[in-house]
Amino acid sequence: MSLISDNPATAAPADLVLPDLEAASAAEVVAWALDEFHPGIALACSFQKEEAVLLDLVFEARPDARVFALDTGLLFDQTYDLWKQVEERYSTTIERWQGPTLAEQAARHGDKLWATNPSQCCGIRKVEPLRRGLSTLDAWVTGIRRDQSPARAGAAKVEWDDQFGLVKVNPLADWSDKDVWREIAKRDLPYNPLHDQGYASIGCVPCTRPGEGREGRWAGSDKVECGLHQEDA
Ligand code: ADX
Ligand code: SF4
Repeated sequence: MSLISDNPATAAPADLVLPDLEAASAAEVVAWALDEFHPGIALACSFQKEEAVLLDLVFEARPDARVFALDTGLLFDQTYDLWKQVEERYSTTIERWQGPTLAEQAARHGDKLWATNPSQCCGIRKVEPLRRGLSTLDAWVTGIRRDQSPARAGAAKVEWDDQFGLVKVNPLADWSDKDVWREIAKRDLPYNPLHDQGYASIGCVPCTRPGEGREGRWAGSDKVECGLHQEDA
């Protein structure tokens, strides 16, 4: 793994040495990461099935672990309900990271920007608030898995994030869909009920349809990523 980025703005510190935790379990990766970086580390929570598992692992490791959610203002009611449920279950407050209000966005860029320019909409509502928040951290934890898409196939469990300039921890990188569901059942965890209604992947209301894998995200458009894990083309 190269730790030196081509982009000087986000280059890894020259003395950064990341351990190879590919053989470690998700719980071990989470425990290492929180030990190493807390309070300069937070879990990125989208309230999808992967976060059901990761929330349990991070709070098992540290009851005061930090978690944030990018609130676009356009999440499903079921997602907002689960947000409250999670806060109660773990006696925590999930940090709400957000961009301009929908009214401000409409005034500046027109109504329903997601329909006319979804990349710009994701940039304003997700990527910019994420960039601002991550600039205050040393590391972040995400639920990406290698089998979710070709773009994610090379994700390491611990890696340098060139795009945002901090360490990225992907404890579930080698998990399958089945592994996630097995762990949710084993631990009896709350999860987003939309998964039982045919939504394999869940984002904002206007851009999410039922579907397998990631096919329900921005269905009918060429867009496949919102820019959190790979710059949007
Ligand atoms: S996305 O790039 O298409 O939106 P996806 O929905 O697959 O990503 O989620 C992958 C991971 O990105 C999640 O497991 C979570 O760590 C992070 N993530 C996605 N959406 C959000 C969000 N709204 N708030 C916080 N983290 C998110
Ligand atoms: Fe906008 Fe859709 Fe991106 Fe949500 S997923 S920020 S509504 S374009």
